[in-house]
Amino acid sequence: MSDDYSTLEGYNPNADLGLGCGLPTQFAKIRKGDTVVDLGSGAGNDCFIARNETGEDGRVIGVDFTPAMIEKARTNNEKLGFKNVEFRQGDIENIPVSANTADVIVSNCVLNLVPDKDKVFKEIFRVLKQGGHFSISDVVLAGTLPDKLRNEVEMYAGCVSGAIQKEEYMAFIQQNGFTNISIQKEKRILIPDDILKNYLNAAELKNFKSGDTGIFSITVYAEKPKTCGCGTTCCS
Ligand SMILES: C[S@@+](CC[C@H](N)C(=O)[O-])C[C@H]1O[C@@H](n2cnc3c(N)ncnc32)[C@H](O)[C@@H]1O
Repeated sequence: MSDDYSTLEGYNPNADLGLGCGLPTQFAKIRKGDTVVDLGSGAGNDCFIARNETGEDGRVIGVDFTPAMIEKARTNNEKLGFKNVEFRQGDIENIPVSANTADVIVSNCVLNLVPDKDKVFKEIFRVLKQGGHFSISDVVLAGTLPDKLRNEVEMYAGCVSGAIQKEEYMAFIQQNGFTNISIQKEKRILIPDDILKNYLNAAELKNFKSGDTGIFSITVYAEKPKTCGCGTTCCS
């Protein structure tokens, strides 16, 4: 699913574990001096691209709940010597960042793994400054996956079976108060037959491939309004 990062400025091959499903920084409009938060930062791939864009005056905070990922990301950062990049261990259903902190939030192929996606969008709204925005690459579905795929651990870890319907995903964004919502990029994900054959027999495979179920990677952009119309507490 992952896109080619290697030509992006700030790319660090040690941080690229091939776990993404898009290039969220490409649409994140990061400016010099911005504070950027990366949700589910892995080994820091998007954080180092973002750091290239924020420059020395900005700040980048990666959040991930897997200790091994935090360790990898911190090791990568130590080698790079960036003083304004940090990695915090925590669950993005309760982002360990204060309200109204981030100019930009990015995330790459993570929300599909999180049980309560609505809570994550509420948290994104809380952590963004008024007028801030997010750019998130993620996996969404059209139609239902066969049970044999939906219940398979490898399909969950592979960022497929934890994904929800695209309409539901976009509704969470809208219902949580974001504006100027747009899908910047969308690509269809095709799971190779040799993987599908591990779970589906020949007839099921044929049905799945000729049916209307689609797996998509989308990169979504949205803004937290500059004013929320009901006082600052509504914005935080
Ligand atoms: C598919 S990997 C993507 C990693 C990184 N964004 C990249 O593109 O290389 C998903 C990452 O999200 C993290 N993750 C999953 N659920 C999380 C949660 N609820 N809170 C924080 N991190 C989470 C995992 O530990 C893993 O590092």
